[in-house]
Amino acid sequence: MALEAIRYRRGSLAILNQLLLPEQLRYEPVASVERAWVAIRDMEVRGAPAIALVGCLSLALELAAGEGPASDVEGLVAFVGERLRVLATARPTAANLGREAERLREVARRRAEGEGVTAEALRESIIEHIEGLLAKDLEDNRRLGAHGAGDILRRVPVPPGGVTLLTHCNTGTLATAGYGTALGIVRALHERGRLARVFCTETRPYNQGGRLTAFELRHDGIPATLIADSAAAAAMCHRGVQAVVVGADRVAANGDTANKIGTYQLAVAARHHGVPFYVAAPSSSCDMTLAGGTDIVLEERPGRELTHLRGLCLAPPDIDVWNPAFDVTPHDLITGGIVTEWGVFAPAELRHALAERGAAAGGQ
Ligand code: MRU
Repeated sequence: MALEAIRYRRGSLAILNQLLLPEQLRYEPVASVERAWVAIRDMEVRGAPAIALVGCLSLALELAAGEGPASDVEGLVAFVGERLRVLATARPTAANLGREAERLREVARRRAEGEGVTAEALRESIIEHIEGLLAKDLEDNRRLGAHGAGDILRRVPVPPGGVTLLTHCNTGTLATAGYGTALGIVRALHERGRLARVFCTETRPYNQGGRLTAFELRHDGIPATLIADSAAAAAMCHRGVQAVVVGADRVAANGDTANKIGTYQLAVAARHHGVPFYVAAPSSSCDMTLAGGTDIVLEERPGRELTHLRGLCLAPPDIDVWNPAFDVTPHDLITGGIVTEWGVFAPAELRHALAERGAAAGGQ
């Protein structure tokens, strides 16, 4: 059975509680925007696309339950805007929720202006728009995976047993509607019989690599080796890593990319070893309103995530802690390219490539 981070049908939304993985597979109902906000902030659900999907679907749920004005079109547009503003405050770095919120406001405003539109029709069209996001994310990921796999196979010498990759954090089914972004590239290579092995980093302090990616790769029978974050440069040097593929929370116009803390040091190590470094970023993670990485807000999380692991004390609890959840990889270290659903682009080409395809908006 395929792993699913999100289970949705009209009137019902449940998320796989990722705090409990890999020990327990437990789905939790999400019945309101406020509950989605807590699930996102506490990282029961995480990963830039999954955050956006759960946020928007929680709004669809409220609309389907008749929340908001019943017959006032303008009031309904205002209600949608207000609920999206609440959701936007849950976590600041990932672009996707802000992007989708912006589109949704636009959809709501445009349809509200239609002649003779009723609040009921508007409500239905907003719900339908949100429901369409699940299939779109899955389709975008499959396209992104195929582009990334093709590029890697063209770029690196492919041994008979396939290529060896390294990935960070979790960018798979658990972080998206399905298939995954960077892990989608891994999956696409595996499906083509061209993947020898993927090394996945543990991804301290939250262990998305150990708890989630390793679990997902085992679940899907993809050959994988778990390493400590501190073993990554050694794996590049001694274990034949041929390309690094990571996800993105927000890509700025110059290609600078915010992703899980530790991504930057992987890019530095990859440069040292001459290993191509790829960022998998659907256009929904690209924010062309920001010139560069210094403009990206980087979330800092509670120190307790470093000092404690599931209640076990790993460090003096009163030690001063700096716990940034993300870092920025400068565009010049993204030597493989930025892989989108439209193709693989050099960081310098990204803005133009997205603008040409009408996907260049962004931001909160
Ligand atoms: O803090 P998280 O687990 O939400 O961070 C996730 C990442 O950094 C992912 O690489 C990113 O969101 C892309 S997921 C397709």
